Amino acid sequence: MKHLLTLESLSTEEIKDILNLADQLKYELKHGIEHHHLKGKTLGMIFEKSSTRTRVSFETGMYQLGGHPLFLSSNDLQIGRGEPVEDTARVLSRMLDGIMIRTFAQAEVDALAEYGSIPVINGLTDYCHPCQVLADLMTIREFKGKLKGLKLAFIGDGNNMANSLIVGCLKCGMSVAIACPKGYEPPKNILDFADNYPGMFEMTTDPLKAAENADVVYTDVWASMGQEEEKAIREKAFAGIQINAELMEKTNKDCMVLHCLPAHRGEEITADVFEAHADEIFEEAENRLHAQKAVMVRLMADKQPE
Ligand code: CP
Ligand code: NVA
Repeated sequence: MKHLLTLESLSTEEIKDILNLADQLKYELKHGIEHHHLKGKTLGMIFEKSSTRTRVSFETGMYQLGGHPLFLSSNDLQIGRGEPVEDTARVLSRMLDGIMIRTFAQAEVDALAEYGSIPVINGLTDYCHPCQVLADLMTIREFKGKLKGLKLAFIGDGNNMANSLIVGCLKCGMSVAIACPKGYEPPKNILDFADNYPGMFEMTTDPLKAAENADVVYTDVWASMGQEEEKAIREKAFAGIQINAELMEKTNKDCMVLHCLPAHRGEEITADVFEAHADEIFEEAENRLHAQKAVMVRLMADKQPE
C-alpha cells in the first residue's frame, strides 16, 4: 500500500490489517502507552473544503504519533491561485513525508499521487471518503464483533459516502442496500463493482425496503459540500429519504445507526433516532482518529509496529 486514494485500491487483507492496527492504537491510547511511530515526520493537510473531524483527527493523530501536521488551506496555498497540482505535488514531496488532501475532483488526488513521490491520503473528494469508511468498519466491528454476514442499509444520496460504503462493506463480506431517489444513484463504475458480489447488493427508492433485516443503517446529508446551490431541489427530491422510528421498526433487533456527520436533524435523520444512537455515532467520529493513525503508520513509518 503506497497511498490511500480510494478503497477500491485496497485488498480485503489490507483493510483488515488497518482495522486491527487501529484497534491496537486505540487500546494503547486509552492505556497511556505511547509509541512515536512517526517521530520527525511531517504531514501536509490540504483542505479545499471545510472540515471538523478530518482536520482535528489527522492533526491530533500526527501529534500523538510524534510527527508534525501542517494545515494548508487552499485559500492560502498557491494552488488556490492556479498553481498546477502536478507542480504542488513535486514541491511538497521534497519537503514533507506525506500529504492528506480534501478536495472536489478525485482526479486532483490521483494527480498528487502520480506526480509526487510521497504517500497521499484522500480526506474526501466528491467521489469517495475512504478514511470515513475505515472508521465506520472499525466501529461496526467494535459494536457487533464481526463484519462478515452483516447487512448495512444506506438511506440517502448515491454520493461519496455511499460509494465508499459499498466498496468497503462488500470487500469485508457485508451485504449492502442503498435507498436513494431516482436520479441520485451511485455512479456506474460503483454499480459495476457491486455486480462482482451477486446477491449482496440491492438498490431501491424505498427506504423501508432497504432497511429490512439491516444490522446497520447509515445516512448522510442530502446536499454535500459543493452542492449548496442544489439545496432546495434536493430537499424536494429527498423528502422521505430519512432514518426515523418507522424505518427502525424494519431493521434487525439491536440495529446500529451511523452517520458520518455533520447531521441535519429533521432531514436525513430524526432527532429521536439520532439521540437514541448517539453512543454509536460519536464512537464512529472518535474512530476517525484511530483508523487514520493506522493508515498513517502503514504509509509513513520507517519501522512497522508488530
Ligand atoms: N465526517 C467528516 O469527514 O467530517 P468533517 O467534514 O468534519 O471532516
Ligand atoms: N457527503 C458529505 C460528507 C461529509 C463528511 C459531503 O461530501 O459533504
